[in-house]
Amino acid sequence: MRILLLTHAFNSLTQRLGAELTRRGHEISIEFDIADSVTEEAVALFKPDLIVAPYLRRAIPESIWKHHVCLVVHPGIVGDRGPSALDWALQDGESEWGVTVLQAEAEMDAGPVWATAAFPMRAAKKSSIYRNEVTQAAVTAVLRAVERYAAGEAPTPLAAWPEARGRLRPLMKQPERAIDWLHDDSATVLRKINAADGVPGVADSLFGIPCHIFDAWPEASLAGVSPAGAGRVIGRRETALLRRTCDGAVWIGHVRREGGIKLPASLAFPAESSVLAEVPLPTWWRIEYATWQDIAWEESGEVGWLHFEFYNGAMSTTQCRRLHEALAWARTRPVRVIVLAGGADFWSNGIHLNVIEAASLGDGSPADESWNNINAMNDLALELINSGRQITVAALAGNAGAGGCFLARAADLVWVRDGVMLNPHYKNMGNLYGSEYWTYLLPRRVGDDGVGDKCGAIMRNRQPLTAQAAVEIGFSDACLAGDMAAFRVDVARRAMEIAAAPDLAERLAAKRERRARDEAEKPLAAYREEELAQMRRNFYGFDPSYHVARHHFVRKSLASWTPRHLARHRDLGWTVPE
Ligand code: COA
Repeated sequence: MRILLLTHAFNSLTQRLGAELTRRGHEISIEFDIADSVTEEAVALFKPDLIVAPYLRRAIPESIWKHHVCLVVHPGIVGDRGPSALDWALQDGESEWGVTVLQAEAEMDAGPVWATAAFPMRAAKKSSIYRNEVTQAAVTAVLRAVERYAAGEAPTPLAAWPEARGRLRPLMKQPERAIDWLHDDSATVLRKINAADGVPGVADSLFGIPCHIFDAWPEASLAGVSPAGAGRVIGRRETALLRRTCDGAVWIGHVRREGGIKLPASLAFPAESSVLAEVPLPTWWRIEYATWQDIAWEESGEVGWLHFEFYNGAMSTTQCRRLHEALAWARTRPVRVIVLAGGADFWSNGIHLNVIEAASLGDGSPADESWNNINAMNDLALELINSGRQITVAALAGNAGAGGCFLARAADLVWVRDGVMLNPHYKNMGNLYGSEYWTYLLPRRVGDDGVGDKCGAIMRNRQPLTAQAAVEIGFSDACLAGDMAAFRVDVARRAMEIAAAPDLAERLAAKRERRARDEAEKPLAAYREEELAQMRRNFYGFDPSYHVARHHFVRKSLASWTPRHLARHRDLGWTVPE
């Protein structure tokens, strides 16, 4: 079938659905929901058999749903309606939730049901539930709905689901999210912040200044302390702030001040944070109790695990340098395999565009900050490429984009959890050329023969890759179990097998020889210099595209058109196939 994906943005759920439908032989094109007239035009050009709306912020116009079947993905159980489905489910402590695929009709989320899929809820950030459980359930439900539609079946009216426990819930407003710091316990505070992460955050204030707060972490060492002092900010660790609740304390990782952008908390309040007591972590080793720890090391026999739980997968200059330091230390440990585990939701999305943007708010320079950030990323990638004493594995439990993908590729092996989406290209960010030694790493993997220009095509086409597709083109080495726990078990088993293999010494020797040969042929410094010459142009040159694109990305400007590489029906010469 010809399926038009009508969506607010090309987010990871839309990318995943597009890839899964394409894999099943459907022809996909994408249109952003910009205006009714634009949608009407897209439908007239593409003549879809079916419209699927994975992520919308407004209703589909009547002119469309009256004449075409439109399947809307709603992140709620059957009968649930309204724009804050997940927020309410998290705040109400639902133990099971789901995704429902409905047919669009006049009343929002009230159309007949084509399919539904359930999942157990986790105490986690809303954004994490969305990227994991919701995305997986949405894929299951949409594929089922599409199959049913193709088979000529009809959807089930809502009224025929008498057992449905979902109901109409209004938009969750800030008063319903508000934290009462004097009376809310830590569990309640965590739940409220989680239910609002990553959008819209909880409206609050810090140091008497209004802001929205995000990214809460528990602090178990203070559990059960007396309520005296509740609400006070009592310390900081790296960029996170520790704030008292009535029975303990929680860490606040990110903050958006009025009119500002989302930033690591201490960067949003630099002067106020600088006088707070530092609560340092004494070690890279994973701390036994729940606390704020973004970089953590674990060892199991001869396998070491380096975790880096960076919010949104964004890696600032400081984060890159700290991770570099941790990796250099890890390389001195008596382990034979180092697993770079990244974070649970993202492995890495490359340089930290918000921190870079923030440089323009003070008296800094975003160009300089971009330059420092990419150099810190490169130093980290170099440490990984040059790790001759161990086999390194990038184990991607979460999505990776842009420089994050190539940082992963700097490891010897890249293992990806089934369901993860990869975007190994840079051009979406204002035609950024990219670095992280991609010009060295990519051709060796995708087998560029210099004729087919496979690397150029990956960079130009800017298409997301599923975990399976990444293996098929040679970008990664294995697609492992989709279930989080099973993935970790799978990675651990494979890493242990490598560590215990009788030929490990030969394997490491071959790796060092290959590196030495490559270095003699063309030094890594030369690749870096060439890439950075292009990046210098992106950052400091006369064409401001990167700075403009970053500004819009960070400020979440609404799209005013669908990029041509997504809207195939807008290609010159496009004709509807017979
Ligand atoms: N720097 C700062 N923030 C970033 C980021 C980066 N490099 N990459 C993603 N984010 C943030 C987004 O702004 C969003 O923030 P929010 O929590 O306030 O909503 C959040 O991470 C999730 O991003 P989103 O786009 O919703 O996630 P996704 O999984 O749907 O899409 C990508 C993933 C990688 C396609 C998309 O995030 C992207 O294009 N990122 C930019 C990558 C890039 O160009 N990096 C710089 C060059 S190395």
